[in-house]
Amino acid sequence: MKYCVLLISLVCSLQVNAQRSDVNYDENEVPGYNLPELLISKSGRKIKNTKRWEKIRRPEIVKLFQQEVYGKIPKEIDIDEVVVHEQAGDAFDGLAKRRQVELIFRKDDQELSVEILLYLPKINEKAPLFVGYNFSGNHTVADDPDIRLTESWVGDEPSLGIVHNQVTEQSRGAKSERWPVKTIIEAGYGVATIYCGDVDPDRDNFQDGIHPFSYQLGQFRPGYDEWGTISAWAWGLTKAMDYFTSDTDIDSSQVIVVGHSRLGKAALWAAALDQRFAMCVSNNSGCLGAALSRRQFGETVGVITHAFPHWFCENLSKYSSREEKLPVDQHMLLALIAPRPLYVTSATEDLWADPKGEFLAAVEAGKVYGLYEKEGLPVTEMPVPDTPVFGTIGYHIRAGKHNITSYDWEQFIDFANERLTPAE
Ligand code: GCU
Repeated sequence: MKYCVLLISLVCSLQVNAQRSDVNYDENEVPGYNLPELLISKSGRKIKNTKRWEKIRRPEIVKLFQQEVYGKIPKEIDIDEVVVHEQAGDAFDGLAKRRQVELIFRKDDQELSVEILLYLPKINEKAPLFVGYNFSGNHTVADDPDIRLTESWVGDEPSLGIVHNQVTEQSRGAKSERWPVKTIIEAGYGVATIYCGDVDPDRDNFQDGIHPFSYQLGQFRPGYDEWGTISAWAWGLTKAMDYFTSDTDIDSSQVIVVGHSRLGKAALWAAALDQRFAMCVSNNSGCLGAALSRRQFGETVGVITHAFPHWFCENLSKYSSREEKLPVDQHMLLALIAPRPLYVTSATEDLWADPKGEFLAAVEAGKVYGLYEKEGLPVTEMPVPDTPVFGTIGYHIRAGKHNITSYDWEQFIDFANERLTPAE
């Protein structure tokens, strides 16, 4: 049995690797493509002002992403109980207060716990806040002995002591270089994080996480146009936002949703759906995040739906190797964030995520910012590495690998300082 499982996972990984090596990394091989029109409605109307954008085109585009890409999110699931496990723990040598809050969801005999770890600056006013998921548990983001350990399923990482899908003490602080909490707090922002697997474990199994809460009797997986894992993660962020509106230490009009890689895809989708997020940061989010699918550079829709089918709704598989038939492309997802500030990043060695495709999508999304008389990106040529550019959309390409680093966070903070405005 054990060998059988090993063999299956070897074959699967070979398939993914084969597909990885098949992809195009040559700019000259990018096919000619036409992007779907942002500013022409389905019925052919020109979208010339914000009123038409908000009434006609924006809802059409949201619907297309729901039906064909990420899947529809049920409306009826709400927080049943909020348990504050810690209100004001002392953290970072007295610089910050730590708060740990559990959101509990219940339906029939099902119960799901989602834990939010917050570090808040010790100031008298309500703090603006960055919120983003982490990959392996809240305790991985800081070397802080008081962070509660998740009991949810976590992907094994034996080098961090994560085995049998459960975390241990060994992984405490293991991802702290991705979360420069001290810098964020010193800049006057709070930071909140949630383990993504509390909401939906990242595996092709719709039997755990929040999905079963939406099933009708006899249903075992979402329907063709119903939520995949990225939609579930986006939903979790909007529930965290529900909580933030009730936390008197947080300025809920200044919540910035941030995510790296697959979690960047979720951050974009959450900001597109929930306009209470005042700003969004997509870090190296790549295919079906910020990158244009039609460029077929690096990861493609065909590859991603094969390797990670559970991230999306089943309808997306129709477009595997038929990107040109997709009724949307990712500039349209970015445009749904207008007129709120949006920051997109790439990394020079992260060709898998198609840096140029991420940049071009951000340029195109600027058309909708234009309707609001805001400048999207101020340039149309990619800037050189480590040189941020920004209007109401910001962009940089960091020299280096697929990652989220202190350099990236420093730019998010600068951008937020310039562009985030508190509600009047
Ligand atoms: C894989 C996947 C990407 C994703 C990345 C990540 O590389 O192909 O689409 O962004 O994992 O989340 O780290």
